[in-house]
Amino acid sequence: MIYSSDAMQIDENLYCLGPQTLPSFLLDGEEPVMFDAGMSFAGEHYQAELEKVLQGRPLSYLFLSHVHFDHCGAAAFLKQLYPNLTICASAEAAEIIQKPNALALIGKLNNLPGLREDQKFQPFSIDRVLQDNESIHPGGDTSIRVMAAPGHTRDMLAFYLEERRVLIPSEAAGVPSGKDKVYTEFLVDCESYFRSLQKLSLLDFDTILFAHAYIYTGDEAKSYFNFALDQGFAFRDKLSNLIDQFDDQTEPIIQVMKQEEYDNAEEPKQLEEAYMLNLEAKIKAVRKWRLQEASV
Ligand SMILES: [Fe+2]
Ligand SMILES: [Fe+2]
Repeated sequence: MIYSSDAMQIDENLYCLGPQTLPSFLLDGEEPVMFDAGMSFAGEHYQAELEKVLQGRPLSYLFLSHVHFDHCGAAAFLKQLYPNLTICASAEAAEIIQKPNALALIGKLNNLPGLREDQKFQPFSIDRVLQDNESIHPGGDTSIRVMAAPGHTRDMLAFYLEERRVLIPSEAAGVPSGKDKVYTEFLVDCESYFRSLQKLSLLDFDTILFAHAYIYTGDEAKSYFNFALDQGFAFRDKLSNLIDQFDDQTEPIIQVMKQEEYDNAEEPKQLEEAYMLNLEAKIKAVRKWRLQEASV
């Protein structure tokens, strides 16, 4: 089955907090864990949904898949709400989130027009660095396995709730858009992205909680990664052909792809500025892959 990721209880102590396009997930237990922190404007939404479940108990951990603006936007807001919150991410994320340029971009993309001061992005730091393959036991019968999954970004982590057979891959799995399309999300390295997809595909799961908009269960979850790999290779080859066709000029490639993928896409859509930054990064990643291929 394919569900939209609105706020809901997924199973006995696993929740989707919504909102649909920027969902965070909550594993409740002795030490409740939240996965990703969306954009800053959604902080109050997360607060309200957390309160429904936690009923006054504090949130213990925030696991960040990566520090893109739409995955860590409300982290500082949550830390203010829960001062003992441990914010966890990869070593690369801990380094990136201290860089002034990264903070400026994250702030710019979060601070939509009309936000109140307290809804704007605030800097934060990583309290605990997560290691690849580390297992965390936050109480109860569920462990969380941390899996390095670079390619979308270099700081990307996926999370696997082993006993629950639930995978939280963030954009390491791409972003499905309905049944027939997956947005391929290699922004820094094509080969690492495909290796990460292959690594995640080998896990034993029944449910995938995606970064944006969807939850897949059963057959849709099981067949997802083969489809995402096929779509990913086709997308890489398409960009590569456009690089040849337009003599390695970026601008005409952007025009073709934006019209096809973005301008005619249905709402809700990614912020245009973020789409453009990502598309340019994907073209760059394909150029890098072509150079690597040529040198073999
Ligand atoms: Fe991302
Ligand atoms: Fe995202």
